[in-house]
Amino acid sequence: MEASAVLKGQPIYRRARAVGINPNYWYPVFWADQLKPEEVVSVKIWDSSLAVYRDADGTVHAMADACPHKGVELHKGEVHGNNLVCPYHGWEFDSDGQCVGIPYFPKEQKLPCAQAKSYPTREAYGIVWVFPGLAELAEQQPLPDVPQYGQPGWFMVRIPGHFQAHFSICNENTMDVFHGFLHKDLQGWYEPKLLKLKQDDDGVAAEYQVSYEGFLSKLLGLGTKGSDSATRTVSIHYRYPHYATSLESVSSLYLMRLPIGPTETKSFSLMFLKLPLPQWLLNGPIARVLEKVILNNIFLKFLHQDVEMMESEQRNYSIDPHRNYVEVNPAIIALQRVIVGQYERSGVSHTSSVDASKESSIQPSQEVSNGMLV
Ligand code: FES
Ligand SMILES: [Fe+2]
Repeated sequence: MEASAVLKGQPIYRRARAVGINPNYWYPVFWADQLKPEEVVSVKIWDSSLAVYRDADGTVHAMADACPHKGVELHKGEVHGNNLVCPYHGWEFDSDGQCVGIPYFPKEQKLPCAQAKSYPTREAYGIVWVFPGLAELAEQQPLPDVPQYGQPGWFMVRIPGHFQAHFSICNENTMDVFHGFLHKDLQGWYEPKLLKLKQDDDGVAAEYQVSYEGFLSKLLGLGTKGSDSATRTVSIHYRYPHYATSLESVSSLYLMRLPIGPTETKSFSLMFLKLPLPQWLLNGPIARVLEKVILNNIFLKFLHQDVEMMESEQRNYSIDPHRNYVEVNPAIIALQRVIVGQYERSGVSHTSSVDASKESSIQPSQEVSNGMLV
């Protein structure tokens, strides 16, 4: 029996740790500039292994990473033109995964009916995306909207993340603005308050008030005259399975999550900043160096602290999945309901169609005081 079925009737937080993904969404799998023409790589989406390759014309394709002949991993093969060739006997597959050539067959010999499952792919925002669900739903499911991408005035920093934790733990970290305490030595943020919260089947939208001072406030140009401290509104919008967050009009973070397996998740994040720096620095050849400097000296420092917490949380969950916990942020509970509800509605779950939104005793509209349940 699968874990989520065992956990039926358990608190929502426990169920959120045990569910799988709704595959009928686009998932990010690779930074586009790291996949060169005629290169093939291995990626995993929720324990399904895929061979993703860029053909000689530059188009990206994805298929199950198992040769239909004997099951050898296709990502160990070669790209020939638009096709992928298995490393073992050289069977050649077109972008639909159909076998179109066997090197040791005479020309006139009929090919066997052998096809690797192929997946819809897209390339957008410098990221390769794969749709692991029902292929006929791919067209109608939009990619996340990233309006700042490629727009002048915004400086983009790509932030890669890799965590040994279930995606629900990673997603809660993003929604959880109350963990400024963790980042106090980095002068993160303080005095958070949850102002607004909305939840529907597809996502959670929350608004928090937070205060900044010191280095971060200076970098983002938040301070008012004579002071480095500023109080601002942070909007966090989880639209299953990804995030869009913004700090008024000063910065935006798009956080695309790739659930690799029950205890492993990657993220492909795009941070957009309005830096108070001259344009020649932001657009010239120095821009990529500046991106690395900001990434290494600011965002990765925050991320490393978060990773330590998320992986610690996962370790204790794995040791004892039945331990009780106390959640006091209604935005986290709303997020857990969406994650569980999406899985149960996806048709992948065998756990019945109980509506997770009705299960918790805490409703999204419940009064909050300083972001805490009252
Ligand atoms: S296993 Fe792939 S060609 Fe034989
Ligand atoms: Fe954090």
